[in-house]
Amino acid sequence: MADHCPLHQILRPFGSQVTQWTMGQRMNGHSIAVIGATGAVGRVFLRILEERGFAAGSVRLCGKNSVGRTMSVNGRDITVEEVTPELLSQVDFAFISATTEVSREIGPLAVQQGALVIDDSSAFRMDADVPLVVPEVNAEDLLEHRGIVSIPNCSTTPLVMVLKPLNDVNPVQRVIADTYQSVSGTGAAAVEEMKTQSRDVLDGRVAKPHVYPHQIAFNALPHIDDFQDNGYSNEEMKMVRETRKILHLPDLPVSATCVRVPVAVGHSEAVHIELSHPMSPEDVREILGAAPGVTVLDDPKAAVYPMPIDAEGKDDVFVGRIRRDLSHPNGITAWIVSDNLRKGAGLNAIQIAEEVVKRGLLMTDRRKA
Ligand SMILES: NC(=O)c1ccc[n+]([C@@H]2O[C@H](COP(=O)([O-])OP(=O)(O)OC[C@H]3O[C@@H](n4cnc5c(N)ncnc54)[C@H](OP(=O)(O)O)[C@@H]3O)[C@@H](O)[C@H]2O)c1
Repeated sequence: MADHCPLHQILRPFGSQVTQWTMGQRMNGHSIAVIGATGAVGRVFLRILEERGFAAGSVRLCGKNSVGRTMSVNGRDITVEEVTPELLSQVDFAFISATTEVSREIGPLAVQQGALVIDDSSAFRMDADVPLVVPEVNAEDLLEHRGIVSIPNCSTTPLVMVLKPLNDVNPVQRVIADTYQSVSGTGAAAVEEMKTQSRDVLDGRVAKPHVYPHQIAFNALPHIDDFQDNGYSNEEMKMVRETRKILHLPDLPVSATCVRVPVAVGHSEAVHIELSHPMSPEDVREILGAAPGVTVLDDPKAAVYPMPIDAEGKDDVFVGRIRRDLSHPNGITAWIVSDNLRKGAGLNAIQIAEEVVKRGLLMTDRRKA
């Protein structure tokens, strides 16, 4: 494996000597393309890549409006390029973090060119032959990949991180989740909109909405993505369907209300979980405290509970306000917070790549097998 390759060791971290192979062939050390490198997720993704020292032999950055611009990765300047079939033929991994339309166009093309696609969009999540993966929950689903692996919606990921360890000991019967989602979940332009509107309101000017249908500053919008005929938004239905798929519980009753709030980074969720048997809040704290990637922060009387401003920049999913649901004998209520750009997107994508490498599941590995 490339992790043991001497060349890779020389190149690690990837910015130390050489940032890009110029020859048109794959080399050991995992070449990657980041499509959407300049976006809210893309920028955090690159930071996490550096932090984790992911085994990248070469990094190619791709965009649309920012083609020609340079970005610093590990102290090296890399020029943003257009996505081309040739570029895709030179990489092991294509991380796509742009738009659903871009994913639909580039994803299959990248697979054709021999790259493994890790896709942040909703384009392929519900496709039967595309694993939808949170490594702490269902890493074994990667064995079934056919070139594309999807990451879930940024509210689904923290929810399944909490549901899985509980479900393992006390099967989950029903879930209600109400979200308080930050503007960075919409992308870089929405963060700017919230800042501009906040200044406008404080200075007595009219706040003009562009990204959202209404003012987001000092407001809450029960509206994320388009609405369906059943009265739920696409975002809410993503939480329903994706939770079922990841947990392999196709009939699990799930209901969600997704709300956009004027928070920059970090999605919060109030969840009501009906289990098969009664369970004490102490037992829930113990189970979740032992779960990988989950941190329990739960001492409300001392004002200790998860908050987005604390979760920003952290990898874990934080859980607190764990208590009995007074409306159901088997019910537990909790408050979940996580950084939507990290565990909700970039970190999960890199953890998938790490798992793929560990299990020898790259397209090139498969061809050799
Ligand atoms: N934000 C979140 O919390 C989150 C969480 C999970 C999943 N996601 C998903 O991740 C994806 C990116 O979200 P984001 O929030 O980072 O959006 P964003 O801030 O709006 O960034 C969009 C990125 O896509 C690039 N792009 C647009 N059209 C392109 C094209 N034709 N070819 C190549 N690159 C193109 C843009 O590049 P230029 O700047 O060069 O135009 C930009 O880098 C979306 O699919 C989103 O649903 C987001």
